[in-house]
Amino acid sequence: MDGDVKVDSKTIVSMKDITMSFSGNKVLDAVNFDLRQGEVHSLMGANGAGKSTLIKILNGIHHPVSGTIEIDGVPARIREPRDTEKYGLAFVHQELNVCLDMTVAENMYIGNWAKTKAGVYDKQQTAQNAAALLQLMGIPLDPYAVVRNLRTAEKQIIEILKTLTRNARVIILDEPTSSLNEREKENFFEIIAKLKARGVSIIFISHFLEDVMALSDRVTVLKDGVNNGTFERGQFTKDALVTAMMGHSVQNNEYVPLSLPTDAPIALELKQLSSDKRFTDVNMQIKAGDIVGVCGLLGAGKTEIARAIFGLDAFTSGKVILFGEEIARPHPDVMIKKHVALLTEERKLEGFIPLLSIRENATLSILKRLKKGLTIDRDAQNRFAADIAGRVTVKMQGIEQPASSLSGGNQQKVVIAKCFASNPKLFLLDEPTRGVDVFAKSEIYKILRKAAEEGTTVVIFSSEMEELLANCSKIIILKKGRTVGMVDSTKVTKNDLMALIG
Ligand SMILES: Nc1ncnc2c1ncn2[C@@H]1O[C@H](COP(=O)(O)OP(=O)(O)OP(=O)(O)O)[C@@H](O)[C@H]1O
Ligand SMILES: [Mg+2]
Repeated sequence: MDGDVKVDSKTIVSMKDITMSFSGNKVLDAVNFDLRQGEVHSLMGANGAGKSTLIKILNGIHHPVSGTIEIDGVPARIREPRDTEKYGLAFVHQELNVCLDMTVAENMYIGNWAKTKAGVYDKQQTAQNAAALLQLMGIPLDPYAVVRNLRTAEKQIIEILKTLTRNARVIILDEPTSSLNEREKENFFEIIAKLKARGVSIIFISHFLEDVMALSDRVTVLKDGVNNGTFERGQFTKDALVTAMMGHSVQNNEYVPLSLPTDAPIALELKQLSSDKRFTDVNMQIKAGDIVGVCGLLGAGKTEIARAIFGLDAFTSGKVILFGEEIARPHPDVMIKKHVALLTEERKLEGFIPLLSIRENATLSILKRLKKGLTIDRDAQNRFAADIAGRVTVKMQGIEQPASSLSGGNQQKVVIAKCFASNPKLFLLDEPTRGVDVFAKSEIYKILRKAAEEGTTVVIFSSEMEELLANCSKIIILKKGRTVGMVDSTKVTKNDLMALIG
């Protein structure tokens, strides 16, 4: 990134000796973290390392057990999120915080809408302001669109734009790019460069090593609530960061071909599946026990197709054929009975009940199987939940912990555990490793691989090309809602894929 920050530039935010506990469980231990004017300082660490907690303390959402925060060298009084505005801090939290029933423009300028002379909300002017900013940032969104109808990635972009309308001098981004595709990421990088040029300072939390390395002036790694190193530009190599995060290096998975029998039956076939404007004439044939990827830009129709197969949305024409049997009207109940599982893109809305414990979430889909008389066999449920949560390496105090108190990445692992609980024959996954750290990612890939070797058919819908290349035997290319081909993943590179989907 151009415009390297001089080491002597002024420190704006300084968090000193921050210690934090939740019900006696220490999650941050005397952490020091500071931010200089005009720099991007990234925060990395495994799921549950304490990243979000640290920035929630800066935002006044949590109050530390001990430690101080200084802004411009003066102790700051931050009791609640409102207090941070006067210091010019703006936050994008990991869990999206958009108002679903408002428009894009209303969300971007929330609390800050343009007013008419009479002092009432001026919808048109607000939308015009939004349109100007959207255009400046090169984002093709309609300011009047209702946010409920947008994809996760678009909601994420709106969260980022929201901070820009506040004229913040410090922007804190907790995994802002987790569902952006390559193109949008480039856009995001440009936004960051523009902000830096204006002297804005940025705290950036991400699990994408490449992004962190490209964007950061400094990187701080948290490990189990301790600052395990702050690296200046030039010092952070991939290996150094991963080792600081995990205590050991993690190998890059190269794709190892699956050995499928040549006469493996077709597990899933789509024939000219169409759904009004969402997708058209989608064809695919996926063999039992295979791991196949579906790759496409945002809006190409990945999520929509996954949802249609599972019966969450209707389709208008075409066929879904499961193990040779046409399913005329897929419905989640029917599909679950047929051992199909879908991991949806938005865990908060579907498939995950934050108030329930890990035990309850992990066994939601198999409660019937755990029945003993009129009640649930608790011993069996405990054993099952502990086993499946262990398999996907959930970092928890125990299976009774409420899922809402897990870190973001660990919540995702609980959702994956829940899907595996039902022993799926066909497992559809939409952006499965969103927000999951490098180590847990490789664990999840191993679990998918093992499931495939035991006969489960796995279909990964993803915008992360490395993920598809490292795990799938074939990759189906989706462009503007149409399948335009299928490639052998050992024969293409990331650049080839980008060219194919673009
Ligand atoms: N409200 C809460 N109550 C109890 N424990 C919590 C609460 N919030 C966070 N924790 C715990 O604090 C630890 C740190 O969580 P945090 O969300 O800060 O991790 P993170 O580094 O952001 O992880 P991720 O990469 O998964 O987002 C975790 O063990 C988590 O379970
Ligand atoms: Mg987090």
